[in-house]
Amino acid sequence: MYTRRAFAARIGFAAAAARLMPEMAYAQRAAVKVGDLPKDMVWLNANENPLGPPQVSIAAMQQVLPTSGRYHYQEFADIYAAIAKSEDLTPEQIVTGCGSSEVLHTTVDMFTSPTRPLISVTPAYELPIEVARALGRPVVLSKLRDDYTADVRKLAEEADKARGGLIYLCNPNNPTSAMTTADDVKWLVNNLPSNTMLMVDEAYIHFGESPQLQTALPYVRQGKDVIVARTYSKIYGMAGLRVGFAAAKPEIIARLAPLRINVVSIVSARAVVAALGDQQTMLPERKASLAHTRRELCAWLRERNVKFIEPHANFIMIDTGRSAREFINTMPKMGVAPGRPFPPLDNMLRVSIGTDAEMAKFRDVFWKVYKG
Ligand SMILES: Cc1ncc(COP(=O)(O)O)c(C=O)c1O
Repeated sequence: MYTRRAFAARIGFAAAAARLMPEMAYAQRAAVKVGDLPKDMVWLNANENPLGPPQVSIAAMQQVLPTSGRYHYQEFADIYAAIAKSEDLTPEQIVTGCGSSEVLHTTVDMFTSPTRPLISVTPAYELPIEVARALGRPVVLSKLRDDYTADVRKLAEEADKARGGLIYLCNPNNPTSAMTTADDVKWLVNNLPSNTMLMVDEAYIHFGESPQLQTALPYVRQGKDVIVARTYSKIYGMAGLRVGFAAAKPEIIARLAPLRINVVSIVSARAVVAALGDQQTMLPERKASLAHTRRELCAWLRERNVKFIEPHANFIMIDTGRSAREFINTMPKMGVAPGRPFPPLDNMLRVSIGTDAEMAKFRDVFWKVYKG
């Protein structure tokens, strides 16, 4: 038996903090002080979807609320089946979680060990890296290529050197919004060293327009050692509802499932199932509208010779040409909250794509700070 102190030391306070920490919690580390916040703040700091949940999901939630005194456990087989079917998978090929944060967490816990590192790039989404560190697992981070993409050969090389590990590839990557091409993902899958699992985090995959950006789900269907993490927080606009899932071959899911905390909230689950019924029209519409706003912002930046990384997600990394801290500290006081710092890309400002009106305000405030 552990004493409380020994137990706390074992899991570490960092582990408690890292547990289930989605983008918003990280965002709060930005230099925004609650007392200073303008009431009409434009939030472009957490890659959320300003459209929120679709109407069908809101109606489904309103309908289920009065019965939320029950667990509704008996409904979950159908809920899992609906989620799996929406991606041409079987229920044995998925496990749901409280956002994709939960499945990222359990994957790191299951597939890293004191001798089996988490291998990724820097910068990448911090959650899996922080979970690994909190659990005392080694972390190996490789530099991005000059074009800010992940060097898949280097990732495989590191896994080989460690005689196995968990490779975390976020595609498109957060915070760079750069993609790993389908050819590179294919190379990595076909060249995974032994004892190595590949986790592809596709939180933002729906926002990409390039034909070279493709989901890794076919590798799951082929039974490869690949886990794909998906979330309803981004294009579906349900960040506060906390639903995501991992897709992998049944043997992998059988290892992850016992670590899951529980079923997700029935209110959230019903919202997801309702949205899936609307998926065929909703996803292309949302993607087109986001892409339009993103294109306008890119054109505006180009006209002003402001550099940025070509974006494939619902956010963009802008090269401010000097420390981005000045923008991160000043812009919130002017009514626009951009992303937090992302070392080692110290001159880069991550900005989520909001509505057209929000981006008009962003341009105004950004330009004032940029011009000094
Ligand atoms: C790349 C990436 N993966 C996963 C998540 C976790 O999101 P959620 O737990 O809301 O699914 C985020 C949050 O912003 C993210 O940026």
